[in-house]
Amino acid sequence: MQKGFNENFLWGGATAATQYEGGYNEGGRGLATNDFVTVGSHTNPRKISCQFPDGRQVLLDREEEMPSDAVGCIMDGIYYPSHQATDFYHHYKEDIKLFSEMGFKCYRLSISWPRIFPKGGIVSEKPNEEGLKFYENVFKECKKYGIEPLVTLFHFENPAYLANHYNGWNGRETLNCYLRYCETVFQRYKDLVKYWIPINEINVLRGYARLGCKQIDASTRYQAMHHLFLANALATKMGHDIIPDAKIGCMLALSGLYPATCKPEDVMGAVEFRRRALFFSDVMMRGYYPTYTDAMFEKLGAKIIKESGDDDIIAQTTSDFLAFSYYRTTVYRDGMPQKTDTGGQMGEQNPYLPHSDWGWPIDPIGLRYVLNELYDRYQKPLWVVENGLGADDHFEEDGSIQDDYRIDYLRKHIIEMKKAVIEDGVDLMGYTTWGCIDIVSSGTGEMKKRYGFIYVDMDDKGNGTFERKKKKSFDWYKQVIASNGEDLDMEVK
Ligand code: BG6
Repeated sequence: MQKGFNENFLWGGATAATQYEGGYNEGGRGLATNDFVTVGSHTNPRKISCQFPDGRQVLLDREEEMPSDAVGCIMDGIYYPSHQATDFYHHYKEDIKLFSEMGFKCYRLSISWPRIFPKGGIVSEKPNEEGLKFYENVFKECKKYGIEPLVTLFHFENPAYLANHYNGWNGRETLNCYLRYCETVFQRYKDLVKYWIPINEINVLRGYARLGCKQIDASTRYQAMHHLFLANALATKMGHDIIPDAKIGCMLALSGLYPATCKPEDVMGAVEFRRRALFFSDVMMRGYYPTYTDAMFEKLGAKIIKESGDDDIIAQTTSDFLAFSYYRTTVYRDGMPQKTDTGGQMGEQNPYLPHSDWGWPIDPIGLRYVLNELYDRYQKPLWVVENGLGADDHFEEDGSIQDDYRIDYLRKHIIEMKKAVIEDGVDLMGYTTWGCIDIVSSGTGEMKKRYGFIYVDMDDKGNGTFERKKKKSFDWYKQVIASNGEDLDMEVK
């Protein structure tokens, strides 16, 4: 039996450009679909602004369909959180230094695609040198401290040009543009970056903001997904050709799912519902559409077109590892309305679990359960690339932030993750906590839903000094990393 985490275990933290980077109109960056998404709250969903050919501008629900003659736009007087986010663009040196102080072995970040190709990489377009230089500086800064970058190539932001001209991932031209972008960054960073994730949380992508597609019907979405499967396989192959020792993994939102009771309909229903998420890893980890695809597509009303040779592309290159985000579990009851068709949704409340202030069930054992579920299914390395607690932090009278609730959450999850490695024999590459420094929430656009070990002085309207300040959890995580996950005491020594 293994004693603990192996000595190369990649401890660190994770962020995404659209929530952290800012500088949306600096350095030659083009617009991204997420730049049109407004701030929201726990009770007030985020909106997306769009404009019609006659100049009329309206706000739509982010998850709704966008009329086909409209395009995303920026409206006066509205606050868009992605525009400055928490300003990594101007603070990266300071922030990476803080990560190194915690002893990070790895830092997961995403490249903002329109910073490299403002129009996404259309045939006539040259890459934006200022954008390429920015990330080169970031990766060099990581390397200076011995931090391995783990780079996500597509995390919730589509070049707006591709969304408007090709209906985003629904159009095959977007795939070609994406591959030009991949080739450019693989070539440029081949000596700096070894770990890559082509697509973030593929199973929760839909609509204009995240997928670049105006329609939200099942056929549009699964056609886009088919193009993304090709993108994943071709980018993985290209990455290996350009960077022989690269490790390239697919990534899903895989919070866990339990049947509500032992009633057979609940249990079988949960299996079927879980497939709506695992379908994506089944394709990318195994290299083929699973046997249940036709029945699932029929139920969803999805029809897609595959070109000849597509299945071979998917079969030829599977992912090296499966990365996933884990925040919570959810409960499936027979007949439960399925709000999304991905399995990433929240079902019934679980009476055995406490909840975060945003209503997310807290379930550390669920992480061990999911690690086992995935390792049994694929027998390939896994990587927990997101996990954490979103909470509203407060300053004590002495100016400190005593985020014991965050330490407690992470500590319990690490304990279960350790059991999965030691007792169950799961091959786990690393653990990067979500929002290691405070960033804008993706779900609500709020700032007060904070995940970080480092506080950033900014409020829900984007006001603040942007000053960085260590929370109590900063020293705790430093101790966890220094002891390779052995010393998890709440009280820092
Ligand atoms: C994941 C995303 O779904 O969850 C992140 O990959 C996101 O981008 C994270 O931030 C947490 O969600 P939220 O809504 O609390 O920011």
